Amino acid sequence: MKICIIGTGYVGLVTGTCFSEVGHRVICVDSDERKIAMLKRGEMPIYEVGLNELVQRNKGRGYLTFSTSIEEGVEKSDVIFICVGTPPKERGEADLSSVEKVARQIASFATSSKLVVEKSTVPVKTGEWIKRVFKMYNSQVDFDIASNPEFLREGSAVADFLNPDRIVIGVEKEGPADILKKIYEPIINHQFDPNLREPSSPHPVPLVVTDIQSAEIIKHASNSFLAMKISFINAISDICEKVGADIEKVAEGVGLDRRVGRHFLRAGLGFGGFCFPKDLQAFIKIAKDLNYDFTLLKEVERINKERPALLVKKIRDTLWIIKDKTIGILGLSFKPGTDDMRFAPSLKVISILQKEGARIKAYDPASMGKAKELLPGVVFVSDPYEVSEEANALVILTEWDEFKTLNFFRIKKLMVNPVIIDGRNMFDPLKMKELGFIYKCIGRG
Ligand code: UGA
Repeated sequence: MKICIIGTGYVGLVTGTCFSEVGHRVICVDSDERKIAMLKRGEMPIYEVGLNELVQRNKGRGYLTFSTSIEEGVEKSDVIFICVGTPPKERGEADLSSVEKVARQIASFATSSKLVVEKSTVPVKTGEWIKRVFKMYNSQVDFDIASNPEFLREGSAVADFLNPDRIVIGVEKEGPADILKKIYEPIINHQFDPNLREPSSPHPVPLVVTDIQSAEIIKHASNSFLAMKISFINAISDICEKVGADIEKVAEGVGLDRRVGRHFLRAGLGFGGFCFPKDLQAFIKIAKDLNYDFTLLKEVERINKERPALLVKKIRDTLWIIKDKTIGILGLSFKPGTDDMRFAPSLKVISILQKEGARIKAYDPASMGKAKELLPGVVFVSDPYEVSEEANALVILTEWDEFKTLNFFRIKKLMVNPVIIDGRNMFDPLKMKELGFIYKCIGRG
């Protein structure tokens, strides 16, 4: 199939690349000339495991091309996926101006019928608005609309896209559903490079075909539910701390009930990134506009917002005075496996510490380039041992694998005080105590 992807962010670039990998001809369009020039030169604008290899492979065999021209993309394709950003506005609702602009452009350039698929995370009823735009700007051409929400995670985006738990298709009639089923057929049946297959992925991948509104709500509800699980376990972890219970065992005991599930019950600093915080806000706002006060989700948000300050309290409870202390930070990105700093809890934690007069040294395996612009006053160093030098406390904010194998004997010798505050529960408290550390973590009284 000939597919155009508009927007080459995390979702757009991964979607376009993976579609080309399973045999479709894809043109990826973005108005950002710098980004498209990079992709044409074979350079990657984002860091995502396995993506570079697939981009090079499919670019090389001519299945994946890049352009700054929507006109070219629309002309060359039968199916167009809108994957542009929907950042939050001041009051929490999603800014849909890019979606609307792209819809107008598609309408003005299309000369034959097209299937337009919304893949960006958008408020319910956006599909209806897009349809109205098409009618308003081009009444000559037949446009079909579909919603096909994306569930990939940063850091494992390629694996998630090719091995999804389910594929959701929202349509108004059968024709567009059949086209989308055909596009996804190789993924539903895992007909691609076996090295990219995840054995745990259901086979065939379940397909949910529904109306457009329901598909849009599935995306809101999925992200909100996952965020709710995280805030729930964080609330339980606070109670565990008060009674001397162990959140890791509690999460295991609760999560082994298959109705609950073990995933997304990791207590810690809370959720960040460009999806959960903004999607939660947007869903609360959508509900409000529909006259439903979604207090449950407001509470999920409140619990999450408290997490950075609670971690700083642990540092204060250990060091007493933070002013003029050197705090070493391990991990800055909002989660491991990505260099993404958007809505990372580390930004909040560091800002509170700086306000209290701490000197901050930091190390992250991937995100320091991006973090430098966001964190003035922080000294960035090249490895965890340099972070530990002269530090009064080490604070773990992102659970990177490489921290698991650190030489703690060496770290202890480098530090002024052997204090570790672990916001991600990476280590066994007893072992850390045996190593001679004052080790504080989350929910393990
Ligand atoms: C999330 C969803 O997991 C994807 O399904 C969805 O497609 C995506 O948002 C989106 O809407 O685009 P992502 O933001 O990449 O994906 O990252 P997650 O792995 O979900 O983690 C989100 C945050 O929750 C991270 O800060 C992570 O540290 C935190 N988290 C996650 C916890 O604190 N505890 C957990 O148990 C799990």
